[in-house]
This record gives sequence, C-alpha cells and structure tokens, in this order.
Amino acid sequence: MDPSGFELLQTAVLLLDESERIVYANSAAEELLGASRRQLVGQSPAIFLGGLTSVLKTPLSGQPWAWLLEIPVHQAARFDDQQQALADQAAQRETLRNLAHEVRNPLTGLRVAAQLLEMELADRNLQDYTRVIIEEADRLANLVARLVSPQRQDIEPHCFNVHEICERALALIELEFGQRLTLVRDYDTSVPDIVADRDRLLQALLNVVRNGAQALTEAADLSAPVLQLRTRIVHQPVLLRTPHRMGLMITVIDNGPGVPEALQNKLFHPLVTGRAQGTGLGLNLAQACLQLHGGVLEFDSRPGHTEFRLLLPLETP
Ligand SMILES: Nc1ncnc2c1ncn2[C@@H]1O[C@H](COP(=O)(O)OP(=O)(O)OP(=O)(O)O)[C@@H](O)[C@H]1O
Ligand SMILES: [Mg+2]
Repeated sequence: MDPSGFELLQTAVLLLDESERIVYANSAAEELLGASRRQLVGQSPAIFLGGLTSVLKTPLSGQPWAWLLEIPVHQAARFDDQQQALADQAAQRETLRNLAHEVRNPLTGLRVAAQLLEMELADRNLQDYTRVIIEEADRLANLVARLVSPQRQDIEPHCFNVHEICERALALIELEFGQRLTLVRDYDTSVPDIVADRDRLLQALLNVVRNGAQALTEAADLSAPVLQLRTRIVHQPVLLRTPHRMGLMITVIDNGPGVPEALQNKLFHPLVTGRAQGTGLGLNLAQACLQLHGGVLEFDSRPGHTEFRLLLPLETP
C-alpha cells in the first residue's frame, strides 16, 4: 500500500508501527494536530490526540504498518475554535487600540502640565513629585504607542531571504544577552526567497526570539540554556483556511521552563504577561503580523521544550 493516496483525504490519517509510534501522517493530520510530519514521526500519537474524543484505530495485517488511525472530520471543529480565537484576538486588539487613542491626548496634556509645574517649583523636593508624573506619563505613552502601532493593514512587500532576518534577530539577541545563552542555527538553505513586509516580519520574529531569550536567562537554575532557530519548507499547509502549495515554517525553540500553565490558553491576547516588566503585547503583535501575511503563529510548550512556529504561505512563481 502506498500511503501517498491518503494525501487526497480530508480525514486525518496516521500510520503506526508495532510499538505504536507514528511512521506516517497525511497533510490533514498535520494540520489538525498542529504539528509537521517531521515532528509527528517517531512520537506516540497520545501526545497529540489529547483533545480529541473519538479516534478510529484499525489493525493492519500484511502491511509495513501495524495500525491505522483515523480522526473523523467532525473533530476538525478544533479548527473552528482556533478561527474563533483569532477573531476574538482581533476584536480585543481593536478595542484596546480605540482605548489607547482616547488615552493618548490627555496623556500628552498631563505631561506638558507637569513640566510647566516643574519649572515653577523652587523646592527640589517637590520636583521629585513632578518627576514621577513625567516618568510615569512617559511609560504609559510607550505602552499606548505600542498599542496603536499596528494600524496599517497594508504590507510593504519585499522579496528577501528569510535567513537574513533570522541572522539579524540573532545578532540583536547576541548584543542584548551576550554569552548567557547558546544560539543554534538549523536552517534549510533550500528555502526560496519570500515576499513579505521585511521590517514587520523581523519585528515579529524578534518578539518571539526575545521572549525565548528572556525565559532562558530569567530562569533560576538552567545549566545550559539553548535557543534554536529552525527554518523548514512545509508542504500543502492550510493557513487561515486557505490551502497553499508550500509554506515556510520558522521555529524558535528554547529549553527554558516553559510558558506558565495559567497563560497558555490566552497567550496571544493583548496585555497577557508573566513577567514583571512585560507589557504582554509582543506575541499579540507578532500574531497580528503573521495573520496580515496570511499566516499564523502557534506554539507548544512544556518544561524544557518550548517552540513557537511562525507559519507563512510561500508562493513560488
Ligand atoms: N519562550 C517562552 N518561554 C516561557 N514563557 C514565555 C515564552 N514566550 C512567552 N512566554 C510568556 O508569555 C508572556 C507573553 O509574552 P509577550 O511577548 O506577549 O509579552 P511580554 O514578553 O510579557 O511583554 P512584551 O510586550 O515586552 O513582549 C510572557 O510574559 C511570558 O510569560
Ligand atoms: Mg515579549
């Protein structure tokens, strides 16, 4: 039996060996389980099937595979949940952006008034108070600026090599975090140039990479922190309900403590942060950027292995 026929099915199909490890997954399974074939092969399907209630398991005889697993189509409802989550995030972003616009003008007035007041104050001790007002107003203004930043719904397309922005992101991380972590590159050099908004994509990648570096360097007892950047071509991905012939996957992997359990379901929502100094906008903005390009940002995390995947359609002429 040639498994390539399964590629034509919308039903997710996995083939398992004697020890019940995945040896083959069709594209529908990759999409449904949110993992590439490369990630699925060799794994036990139980890791990926947690959320699914009915899976059909058929023993195979006289075949190179021991079991065939089918995941009926109705369970693709999980997709709809994902779509709903993306729509919710967009709506929240819109509300916050409107709020930020409302805050911006009075904030500027507040800062100017505090500056004028400061000039009038002869007593240096009293100036400490106006300093606090000015500094806090600046901090808020920064937050507001980040909230209103992705207004542009258009992208400025450039054709460039994705490894160029990977290298740029890593160079910035090296500057910021120095020798405190090991950077590993795992590039597929056959990835063709992509057409995308270079600056925005770099910013999105940097948000994700910086999170990984922060998680690694802020963790208390991590002996060998490693941050890995991997690029791969994915075949026939379905991104935002649109099938593509090819896609690009940039994976950012770290061996840090993992995303806190309590944040996992709402990680891409704005203002969700687990860090004292965080604003909780990095991932939300990165997700918005990928969606604007017709792609998605997704993640899997457990202690010792966290990966964020930036998936983009890759259209070749
Ligand atoms: N690689 C990771 N490992 C562990 N936790 C992570 C990782 N990436 C993100 N997180 C968690 O997700 C939270 C949200 O990340 P996000 O980038 O959106 O906001 P932030 O980093 O807190 O603030 P900022 O807006 O400055 O980026 C982080 O605060 C952190 O708790
Ligand atoms: Mg961040």
